[in-house]
Amino acid sequence: MIKHETIEKNIGLMILLIILVISGGGLAEIVPLFFQSSTTKPIDGLRTYSALEFEGRDIYIREGCNVCHSQMIRPFRAETERYGHFSTANEHVWEHPFLWGSKRTGPDLARVGSRYSDDWHRAHLYNPRDVVPESKMPSYPWLFENKLTGSDTAKKLEVQRMLGVPFSDEAIAGAQEAVQGKYEIDALVAYLQSLGKLHNNYDKVR
Ligand code: HEC
Repeated sequence: MIKHETIEKNIGLMILLIILVISGGGLAEIVPLFFQSSTTKPIDGLRTYSALEFEGRDIYIREGCNVCHSQMIRPFRAETERYGHFSTANEHVWEHPFLWGSKRTGPDLARVGSRYSDDWHRAHLYNPRDVVPESKMPSYPWLFENKLTGSDTAKKLEVQRMLGVPFSDEAIAGAQEAVQGKYEIDALVAYLQSLGKLHNNYDKVR
């Protein structure tokens, strides 16, 4: 039996034991997350993105929207009253990569879908100050000029399917046609309108 005094006087032993305790605690906390259905199974009724929404998500990442906007509502009253039901892991099991984030220069967008009209989003993204005079958000006028070719949309969906997102064969087969010729702004707005709207089972979230 090691006496406490022995540990206190032996820094090497102390470090070793601290590492053991922290790794043990870490394993006990983290490993179960890979096996619990609340973190690994999608919430009932979750749908996959449409091809257009998915392209919009890629534009969202390309433009760095996630640098200023989180997509994770914390379970506190101040948050849920402003943004809606708190975010849960099972809503996000098909997100590769996750866009949760923690830095909020602008508001959280996890449930922004349907909050504004498509026209509002278009005006806001063209020049945020036209609709929110005090806004510090950048303008994105090129989204109204660039068109999507859709040449690699099907490939992107296939990669997502390899990662476990159940995109159907039809969705993949029709992916290019669904986005070809659309403007980037159409895709981005479709994506924004889908946020928080991919399921409607808040009573089943934990
Ligand atoms: C430099 C930080 C910054 C970046 C980058 C940024 N935003 Fe914003 N965003 C803001 C701020 C600040 C606001 C609040 C003022 C306003 O509504 O314009 C905002 C507001 C919003 C809103 C309204 C949210 C609400 O609930 O009222 C949406 C939607 C939005 N941004 C989408 C985007 C998208 C899409 C992108 C990428 C194309 C983007 N933002 C990039 C800072 C940013």
